[in-house]
Amino acid sequence: MKDLIWKKDGKGESADPAIMAFLAGEDVELDKELLLFDIRASAAHVKGLQQIDILSVEECTKLLDGLLQIEKDVQDGALELSSHFEDGHSAIESWLTEMLGEVGGKIHTGRSRNDQVAVALRLFMKDRLSQLQDICAQCARVLLSRVETEGDLPMAGYTHLQSAMPSSVGLWLAGHAEAFIDNAELAALIRNWLDASPLGTASGFGVNLNLPRQAVAQELGFSRLVVNPQYAQNSRGKVELQALSALSACTLDLRRLAWDLSLFTTHEFGFVKLPSQYCTGSSIMPNKNNPDTVELLRAVHAVVQGAQAELASVLGLPSGYQRDLQATKPPLLRAFGKGLQALRLLPDLLAGFEWQTERMRQSITPEMLATDLATDMARKGIPFREAYKAATAMCEEISGDAVAQSLANRLSPGGCGQLEIGLLEARLGALEN
Ligand code: ARG
Repeated sequence: MKDLIWKKDGKGESADPAIMAFLAGEDVELDKELLLFDIRASAAHVKGLQQIDILSVEECTKLLDGLLQIEKDVQDGALELSSHFEDGHSAIESWLTEMLGEVGGKIHTGRSRNDQVAVALRLFMKDRLSQLQDICAQCARVLLSRVETEGDLPMAGYTHLQSAMPSSVGLWLAGHAEAFIDNAELAALIRNWLDASPLGTASGFGVNLNLPRQAVAQELGFSRLVVNPQYAQNSRGKVELQALSALSACTLDLRRLAWDLSLFTTHEFGFVKLPSQYCTGSSIMPNKNNPDTVELLRAVHAVVQGAQAELASVLGLPSGYQRDLQATKPPLLRAFGKGLQALRLLPDLLAGFEWQTERMRQSITPEMLATDLATDMARKGIPFREAYKAATAMCEEISGDAVAQSLANRLSPGGCGQLEIGLLEARLGALEN
């Protein structure tokens, strides 16, 4: 461990390694993911200090150059955050001081690690929520483009996992597309909601300097300030929880989609063939070809839900900074790491699987037309309950044409005959711009 930045005279008991290791926890590892955001925020803070003449123009330039160099060295691997440092925040100051001498020690004027970590985390969440929005939009785009080419293919529709009515590939694809459009919008909404800078609130009580907080926030791309210093700390964990809820909506839909695909690839359904790179063989059963990728995609929601529960249980705290807040970082970073890694695989998977059209057609049996028949009779004036009773007996062998007709007649908005792709396209287009 380097000299702790808060040690004043180098005297007294040196830190107990076991206690220091416990305090740091996984923090140093986790701070690696936050480091570049921390460096960016540090540069904005330096500019703010120069604006109010705490730093001379020359000192400001030196510190900014130093931070740029650190950023480069971190990216190249020349500098590595290791357990020599208490955390990422201290590392930046230590590296600057090593590189520039005394002026390095000026960077921490008017800030605390409390607002430093809070601002890095908000930048991190903004970045990850933007990625989430993009990936969800990409998934929706792939699904909608397949509606255009394959939307009319018939397939059985199920409720209770029992055959229900003739349905179409288009309805299934557009259903999942709408989910991902909702999720992209949710990610954008939550990103905007947490788009506020806590930097300049220091340890939670403000600073006896006229910090240009607004200008610094703008420099960092924030749209507003977390105004109150106490709330800057009290909102820690609370905003993380909402960021996770946006992720969780996506992984929940991912789970259902993966479930459908894993069912559809079974011998019993036989609706879908996955590209071979998503499947594995068995170590003992030579005949097996298992959809492992899809199954592990389905498992990701468990990681996110676990993270939500863990994070929520840290938050039983009084006002102000408490070191417990450090424990909100692992679930946040773990869930976004796993969640985005999984979701990134989805657009290609969705573009790559093949429909087994013959099996899908065979899955539609005559009695599945009973609901359409009953509704037809009702349209002609027969009370629906009477038509309902008569319909099943009237179902005969069906031709491909009858199925196509059934789908084409399903003209209620959103139904197989009128999927209203235009409405989905309009929402997706707005997200992509
Ligand atoms: N690792 C700490 C956290 O995540 C950084 C802030 C430390 N602040 C303090 N006053 N010890 O909360």
